[in-house]
Amino acid sequence: MIIPRPRELAVHGGSLLYHQDLLRQGPDDVSLGDEGYRLDVGRHGVELTAGGPAGRFYGMRTLAQLGPSLPAGTIEDRPRFAWRGVMLDVARHFMPKTFVLRLIDLLAEHKLNVLHLHLTDDQGWRLEIERHPRLTEGGDFYTRADIREIVGYAAERFVTVVPEIETPGHAQAAIAAYPRLGNDPARRLRAWESWGISEHVLNLEESTIRFFQDVLDEVMELFPGDFVHVGGDECPTAEWERSPAARRRMRDLGLSGPADACGWFIGRMAAHLRRHGREPICWDEPGRRPAPGTTTMVWLAEQADAGQADIILTPHTRTYFDYYPSDEPGQPPAQRGVLTLADAYAFAPDPAARGVQCQLWTEYMPTPRDVEYMAFPRLCAFAEVAWGSAGDYPDFLRRLDPHLARLAAQGVRIGPLIP
Ligand code: ACM
Repeated sequence: MIIPRPRELAVHGGSLLYHQDLLRQGPDDVSLGDEGYRLDVGRHGVELTAGGPAGRFYGMRTLAQLGPSLPAGTIEDRPRFAWRGVMLDVARHFMPKTFVLRLIDLLAEHKLNVLHLHLTDDQGWRLEIERHPRLTEGGDFYTRADIREIVGYAAERFVTVVPEIETPGHAQAAIAAYPRLGNDPARRLRAWESWGISEHVLNLEESTIRFFQDVLDEVMELFPGDFVHVGGDECPTAEWERSPAARRRMRDLGLSGPADACGWFIGRMAAHLRRHGREPICWDEPGRRPAPGTTTMVWLAEQADAGQADIILTPHTRTYFDYYPSDEPGQPPAQRGVLTLADAYAFAPDPAARGVQCQLWTEYMPTPRDVEYMAFPRLCAFAEVAWGSAGDYPDFLRRLDPHLARLAAQGVRIGPLIP
């Protein structure tokens, strides 16, 4: 459970005034699954049995949320999805490390277990790369020490940090730093200062592949999790069509045309990651099937196409919390589109997916306070969907009330409810 329904516990009636010293922890029961737990509340105390350390962590969080008066009974609880993610775009607007740590706490409080950091885009490159220091020149970024701190802090809370390095589109900031990565090395670009999809994309040279393999090597050193995201969405092909070098390269590689070049590029990135024992991820793009073994984030539709495997569902209609949370006037500027709390709660992901993830693209969220306003309370609804405990919406709203009071007490800025 994410936001407890106390009556679920009240199977035998009665209640227990809970004190820490009434908690017993039984030996692990692997049948509960790594993240599962069981709480037995009787007259003499509470017994917590977990499937493993993460389950114990979640069991303790549920106890804390239930408060001091526990109805007697048993609850057995485990998540529906193994991947319960939140993506934070730190490229469009950089978010200070202190906020990333706070967000990790908020993820853990909602039993979410993946923080996907969108670290690079047209507008900025936010990760220190020792071999290519100009990438972060003149902009805000995380040092290697920052990343180690973030990754360690997250691990203590059973959150895995998944880095994303965007290729071959959404890469203007990298081309601005190193013009030889672009399709016109004589052209001087700046990191982009508006929103949208830049036409300036990486070139297809082997030297550019090697540059990004270097980047991925440092990324793998800093982020110990299994997964590394290499982008792959929204890559305009106009520069490849115009460039004699790109046309020659596509011919030499036997690509049928520019439409195949994006898939080729992320395929090279994916192969490099797999050689190092990591699992590549890319965004889904219409008409492109990534190399087998590449996990795909499906964002344009609410379900995967038949036959697509290794899917994480990230549909923009249910999980893009940069859309307006309400169509009432007076909201701060946001991405065009409306995604209400009810819309977020009504997301019914296919249980066959590996996981689900909500997105905080930050074009219109210049500060952490803006991110909080857009994330909450929709993230609470998403967390119940991800855990698999979502049900009746009016019941959710009743349970949400005391939960939002808890968040507000921590100083979290909460956006509109509009039931
Ligand atoms: C995306 O929203 N371009 C993944």
